[in-house]
Amino acid sequence: MEDKIAQLKEMIADSDNIVFFGGAGVSTESGIPDFRSVDGLYNQKWKYPPETILSRSFFERDPAEYYRFHREKLVIDGVKPNRAHLRLAQLEQEGKLKAVITQNIDGLHQAAGSKNVLELHGSILRAYCSRCRKPYPAEIINKGSGVPRCSCGGVIRPDIVLYEEPLDNDIVRSAISYIRNADILIIGGTSLNVYPAAGLINYYRGKKLVLINLSETPYDSYADLIIHEKIGEVFSRV
Ligand code: APR
Repeated sequence: MEDKIAQLKEMIADSDNIVFFGGAGVSTESGIPDFRSVDGLYNQKWKYPPETILSRSFFERDPAEYYRFHREKLVIDGVKPNRAHLRLAQLEQEGKLKAVITQNIDGLHQAAGSKNVLELHGSILRAYCSRCRKPYPAEIINKGSGVPRCSCGGVIRPDIVLYEEPLDNDIVRSAISYIRNADILIIGGTSLNVYPAAGLINYYRGKKLVLINLSETPYDSYADLIIHEKIGEVFSRV
C-alpha cells in the first residue's frame, strides 16, 4: 500500500488536470451505506427489491411505498463530508482537480467545498413537481410525510434519476469532455456496475487511470494503478 500511495501522491503532485469519477463507496465513511456491498442497500430485505422501488414505474404505481423507502433509506440526517470529499475539494482549490463526476445523490462533495460537481444521478437535496416541474425545497419530501403534492395537484418528486429514466444529456456531454481530456482519471468507491454511468470511463484516453475501491471491479485490468483500500484513508495520505 505504501508504495502505491507514494506513486499516487507523485502523480497528483505532477498534474493540474485530474478528474474524479466516484460512487457510493466515497460516502460510506460518512455513514451512508453503499448499494452492493454485503451490508449495502440492495442486500437489505424489503417488501420489493430496492432496485424495483427506485424505478420510475414503481414510483408512479406506488408513490406511498416509494416515499416510505426514500425517507427511511435515502435520507440520513447529520451526515458530513469525509476525508475523501474534503481532499477532493482541496485539490480543486489548488487548481489540480478539474471536476468531480459522481453517481451519488447525497450532495456531500458540494458540502465539502467542491464547486464543479457533475451529478449523473441527481440529488435528494432538490425536488420538483412531476406534472408542472415547479421546483420545491427537498424538505417537503425529506422532512414531510405521505405523498407530497404540488399546488397543481401533481406529485412532487426528488430530483434523482430513477431506474428506467435517462441521464441528463448536458451533464453526460460535460462529463465525457472532462474525462476525454483528463491527464489523470481517478475512479473511486464504485463497483462500475451501472450503465450508462460506468461506460463514461471508456472515454478516458490517458495512461494514468487510477482505481481506488475496496472490492474488485470489471475495470481493474484497465487501471494503471489499483488501490484496494478505504478511499478516505487513501485521500488523507496524498
Ligand atoms: N473505500 C473504497 N471503496 C469502498 C468503500 C470505501 N470506504 N466503501 C465501499 N466501497 C466500494 C465497494 O467495495 C463497492 O465496490 O464502493 C463500491 C460501491 O459500489 P455500489 O454499492 O455498487 O455503488 P455504486 O457503484 O455507486 O452504484 C452505482 O447504482 O443503484 C445505482 O443509482 C445507484 O448510483 C448508484 C449506482
